Amino acid sequence: MEFTNCKIIDLPKIEDPRGNLTFIEENNHIPFEIKRVYYLYDVPGGETRGGHAHKKLHQFIIAANGSFDVILDNGDKKKRFHLNRSYYGLYIKNMIWRELDNFSSGSVCLVLASDFYDEDDYIRDYNIYKCKRK
Ligand code: TYD
Repeated sequence: MEFTNCKIIDLPKIEDPRGNLTFIEENNHIPFEIKRVYYLYDVPGGETRGGHAHKKLHQFIIAANGSFDVILDNGDKKKRFHLNRSYYGLYIKNMIWRELDNFSSGSVCLVLASDFYDEDDYIRDYNIYKCKRK
């Protein structure tokens, strides 16, 4: 399931009757160095997050708890990914517009990012994004 070089990546899962364990190594399971981790939580039902693209940032998104959808848009086509397990995630390259919706109650959206927070890296206007994609 690939969309404009973005794809679901399965992670190692160490099954154990005491509880399962999953791990992620930079440049191994995901194709970038992890400089930042952030998470979305307490998202009210019906809310939407995202609504932007990044000029350079790469991200890896995991449903650490619960479920939600990530809609990727390359300026031409859209694809909806449903994330609902913590042993895989969605790798999103730079210059892809994304929106997140359909958050289940208690869901946690864990994001690994290739760089520190920088507002200058965001494209928050869809029309500007579409122009830059051309
Ligand atoms: P934003 O990335 O727009 O949220 P989302 O795409 O998940 O809906 O960020 C929301 C606000 O939080 C914005 O004012 C910037 C701030 N923020 C930081 O200060 N540091 C961070 O690492 C992130 C991701 C956001």
